[in-house]
This record gives sequence, structure tokens and C-alpha cells, in this order.
Amino acid sequence: MKVLVTGGAGYIGSTVCSALEDKGHTPVIIDSLITGKEKYVSGRIFYKSDISEKNILKKIFDEHPDISTTIHCAGLIIVPESTSNPYKYYEENLIKSIHLFKNLLNLNKNKLIFSSTASLYKSSNGSMVTEESELAPQSPYAKTKLAIEMVLEDFANAYGLESIALRYFNPIGADPKMRSGPYFENPTHVVGKLIESTNSKNNVFRITGTDWNTRDGTGIRDYIHVWDLAQAHIAAVEYFDKIVNSNTPYNVINLGTGEGTTVLELITAFEEINGLEIIKEKSDARHGDVAGSYTNRDKALKLLKWEPRMSIEQGLADSLKWFNKNNTDYS
Ligand SMILES: NC(=O)c1ccc[n+]([C@@H]2O[C@H](COP(=O)([O-])OP(=O)(O)OC[C@H]3O[C@@H](n4cnc5c(N)ncnc54)[C@H](O)[C@@H]3O)[C@@H](O)[C@H]2O)c1
Repeated sequence: MKVLVTGGAGYIGSTVCSALEDKGHTPVIIDSLITGKEKYVSGRIFYKSDISEKNILKKIFDEHPDISTTIHCAGLIIVPESTSNPYKYYEENLIKSIHLFKNLLNLNKNKLIFSSTASLYKSSNGSMVTEESELAPQSPYAKTKLAIEMVLEDFANAYGLESIALRYFNPIGADPKMRSGPYFENPTHVVGKLIESTNSKNNVFRITGTDWNTRDGTGIRDYIHVWDLAQAHIAAVEYFDKIVNSNTPYNVINLGTGEGTTVLELITAFEEINGLEIIKEKSDARHGDVAGSYTNRDKALKLLKWEPRMSIEQGLADSLKWFNKNNTDYS
């Protein structure tokens, strides 16, 4: 199958493209490269454009009428930036997504898979959540994701834009064949910060939030290997018509391992893999932080027939391998 991947030059989109290719599918990428990397689209069908460009979208479908589904990964993702500049996030994530959906409908392309996030959940006490759990997005970033989900549900019911929102928990790792991986410049994610703390002069890892109601007081997350995440997208493409159809035109699926890991447990795993001790410093939780959650994955198993296969240790090891391959300079 041919699949349009928005944001295919990014961390997750590029890994999804590799997984699609490995399963014999053909990704077609649209990405503005606002944060993505040109080398991640090397050798792939690529349109350098904003997702909201109507004429480019038409050109893509004129040139590839056999595209079956769109996987919508494009977006801005830095939570603190969204707090300081919410306009940018509502415009780039929400408004541009609405334009994309309308333009897809005008081209009679009505199958869409959306990159959503577990940060929609209220999850105040580090507990397990299901797709039915209460939502309470804290940051403007997460609010844009919920708003997009609401638009998708309404567009599904009113206009027949069939869609699946995949709520990712915490992706880690890199493509096992090292075709692409996370960015390490000014990392905001915990694994990037761990690697930074072992490779820079200011080599202290700050644990933000140590008073949560979790087993050791640090935040709990459900770290999912990005390659497992990518496999779930392949299943969503292949089982699309069983998951959404005219009776259920919109559906939501959580993607995580089903196991919670605290920040301290993640640090210990990282120290074991790396063979060195991290210098840690405790500090207050940041504005908008939550204790976190992990997911029940019954719905993913039922609808996608998907189960994660890779361990946290593998995710950390692949992140490190990718970092060493790319020689990021933290000096
Ligand atoms: N990485 C995570 O921890 C995480 C967790 C949950 C959900 N998500 C979601 O997954 C998706 C992908 O995340 P990622 O980590 O790969 O981010 P990323 O920054 O690596 O990739 C996003 C890509 O989208 C492109 N892009 C952004 N706005 C665009 C626009 N208007 N037009 C065209 N291209 C545009 C960027 O150039 C980039 O290549 C995002 O929607 C994000 O919200 C990510």
C-alpha cells in the first residue's frame, strides 16, 4: 500500500516510514522540515511543504492516486515552548490540521491515522489508564492534541473522514537498523537529558519532581520503543477498515507497554547499560508536570492485534547507539 506520512522527516514519522518500507508498503512524505531532518527522507518520495498547502496536497494525490491512508505525524511538540507561545501551537498544530483534513476530504481521501498523546489523560496518581479514562490536558501542546481529536470525531460523524487517534505514551529508542532516531540537540525528553548528562561538562541530571504519589516519589511513565510504536501504525493501516467504518467512523487507541517505569528506575536501567553512575540532583516539578500514567493495552491488542516486543533496556541501548553514531557535541 502507498501511505501519505505527514511529518515523515521527524523522529516518529521517519521510523514509521522505515517500518512501512520493511513491510513492503511505500511511504509518501510531506514535511516542511521546520524541525525535521532532510537526511531522514533520503531515498524516499518527499514533498517539502507545509501540510496546509492545498495545491501541494492535490499534486501529491494527482501523482500518487493509489495512496490509501494518511498518517498525520506533523506537528510541533515542545511542551514548555507551547506554554510560552500557545498561539504558535494552536496555529501550527490545530489550525493547520483542520486545513489538512478539509483538503483531504475535498480530494475524497477519507482515511486518517493521527499521532495523539497520552498527555491528554488526567492521571494524577501514576495509575493505569484506559481509553475511557478522564482527560485533563495540562499544556497548550496537549490541548491542541485534544482539540484535534475533537475535530476528527466531528468530521468523522459529519463528513465521513474516518480516523483513528493513536495516543502514544513515551516513545524511546531509535530504528534498530539506525536509519533515523531522536534528535539530541537541546533535548527536552528524559532519555536525551540522561545522555546529555553523561556527555557534557555540566553533567548533572535533574530529577524534576520527587514528591509524587508513586512507589519512589518520581514521575511514572510508560516508555514504548519507537520501533514497536511504528509497528502499531502498520497494523492500523492494514486493519483500518476493521477499526473504523461507517458505524464507528472514529476510534481511539492507546499505545504503550502496559507497564509503568519511574524516573529513578529508568536512571538505574540507563546506568546499568552505560556502566556508569549518573550524578543526580533533586528539584521541584516543572509547571504542567504530572505524576504520569501507564496504559492498559487491551484495546490495542484487540483492534490492532499488536503487542510491544522490545524492552526498556533495548530502547535505552538503541538511543545510545544512535547518539554515538551521530556524535552530538554537548561540550
Ligand atoms: N515524541 C514524543 O514523545 C511524542 C509523544 C506523543 C505524541 N507525539 C506526536 O507524534 C508526532 C511526531 O512527533 P515526533 O517526536 O516525531 O516530532 P518531530 O518534531 O521529530 O517530527 C515532527 C515533524 O513534523 C514536521 N512538521 C511540523 N509542522 C509541520 C507543518 N505544518 N507542515 C509540515 N511538516 C511539519 C517537522 O518538520 C518534523 O519533521 C507529533 O504529532 C507529536 O505530537 C510525539
